[in-house]
Order: sequence, then C-alpha cells, then structure tokens
Amino acid sequence: MSSSTRPADTWDLPTRHLGRRTIVFDRLDSTNTYAAARADDPANDGLVVVAREQTAGRGQHGRTWQAPAGSSALLSALLFPPPALRRPALLTAWAAVAVCDAIDALAGLDARIKWPNDVLVEGRKACGILIEQRTVASGQWVVTRDEPSPPATSHWPLATICGIGLNLNQTADHFAVAGLEQAGSLGSLTGSRYSCDQATRLLIQLLDEQYGRLLQGDVRTLESTWKQRFGLLGEPVVVECADGDRHGRLIDLGWEGVQLETSRGLSCLVPETVRHLRPQ
Ligand code: BTN
Repeated sequence: MSSSTRPADTWDLPTRHLGRRTIVFDRLDSTNTYAAARADDPANDGLVVVAREQTAGRGQHGRTWQAPAGSSALLSALLFPPPALRRPALLTAWAAVAVCDAIDALAGLDARIKWPNDVLVEGRKACGILIEQRTVASGQWVVTRDEPSPPATSHWPLATICGIGLNLNQTADHFAVAGLEQAGSLGSLTGSRYSCDQATRLLIQLLDEQYGRLLQGDVRTLESTWKQRFGLLGEPVVVECADGDRHGRLIDLGWEGVQLETSRGLSCLVPETVRHLRPQ
C-alpha cells in the first residue's frame, strides 16, 4: 500500500502555492493514488507527491502508465482551488501549458497540446496528464476529461489532483518494445540525458508560477498561451462531443468556447463538452 511506504526525501521548495511540501518516494504505486488518500484534509492544499519509479501508475481511460526508474518526472499535486479555478477546462490547460514551458526550458523543444491535455513533441506524446476531481456531494473521484460535462459552477469539484508523467530518458527502442510507437521522450528526441529530480523541480516551479497568476485572477495569460500551444487555429478540425462529431474550421479557442465555422454557420461549444479536437 502506498500509504505505508516511506518517503525517501522531502523537498521544501521556494514556491508559493504548491510544492512547499513535496514528498519524494523512490518507489510508489501511484502518486495520484497517494495524493487522493490525503484529499480529505484541506491542510494538504499544495502538497506535491513525487515518485522516482511507479509500480502501478494510472493513465487516462483506466489505462496504466508505465515509467521505469530514472525515466521520467512523475508527480501529483493536490489542490483545493477556489471556486473560480475549479473549472476542468482551466485546470487541464494550466497543467498542459506548464508542461510545454518545462519542455521548452529543459530541451528547447516546441511542445504542442493535443486536446484536452496530452503534450506532443514532434508529433510524439511526451507527457500524460491525469486530472482527477472530487465533489463533496458524491465523494467520487472523476477523471476530469473522461466525462465531459457542461459547466455548472456549484457542482465543480472541490479537491483536484493533477498527475503528470513527463518522459525524459526512455529510448525509442523502449517505446517500440512497449508497443508505444507514438510516444517520445525528451532524450529520444534530443539525444541528451535529463535529471529526473531537476526536471521535476522545474515543473513544480512552473506549475506554481502559473497557478499564482490564476489565483490573482489572471486567467487570460493562460488562455492565450494555451491557444498558442494548441496550434490548430484557422485549420479544418473534427470536434468530438458526447452527442456526435462536428466538422468545421477552428476560428477561436478560449474559456468562453470553442468557435467553429461549419457549413451551417458559426457554432460555439463549451470546452468541457468537447472530448477530442483533432485536425481533419
Ligand atoms: C495519460 O494516460 O495520458 C495520463 C498519464 C498520467 C500519468 C501520471 S504519472 C504521475 C501521476 N500518477 C499516476 O498514477 N498517474 C499520473
């Protein structure tokens, strides 16, 4: 059980909102699972859990997330965001943008966001993000973007866990053997080797900076960076929603909506109702 595993280290990072208390494990089942077990206590707001190896990492859609020791930055941040920041679209964008900035800073690579929150480099998935949220009423954890829902502020969840797995040192052979031909690591793309601890610290710092801006009410800076990192503006796209696909040209993207020009005119979709958005 993760709760009985002893931390190898703790980091007191000079951050403001998350990571001031960071617990580091050499080996853990899942950082998300560990953080979820601490989500009953709001005093754990900002707690970050780091693993140097995960034995039962969890991915989107109930999949597993494999990351051998020394291969990745693996972390989960436990947050109790104020009501204005509980919105799934905003939190997924926050995490994805911070990862893109970390990739840029670490490797000088231009990372792109694939809806809703995969991060690609040169078309390869270099990072997975699993955001789970829990409402007070249901007590159930819900994977934010597995179950798109229309925004209803009163129901937006209280506790949020943002889990990030950033591929750093896996080789192309490793991904081929694992049947993950579409995956990449910073190392497989640049030929360099990265320190997992350093990359993790940097990522926490970037998440913290961006979260600080959000807490101050600046959601526009994130919106514009998210839009830029998404990179499909003006292009023909397919938008997959729970009630079917829509085809059109992507006109704009923001918290207010995903604007599409379709054969029937302009339409605007609430971001939380969009499952996937991809080039046509
Ligand atoms: C995906 O399937 O794309 C999301 C993968 C998320 C993996 C990370 S690794 C750290 C954190 N702990 C987990 O168990 N999962 C997330």
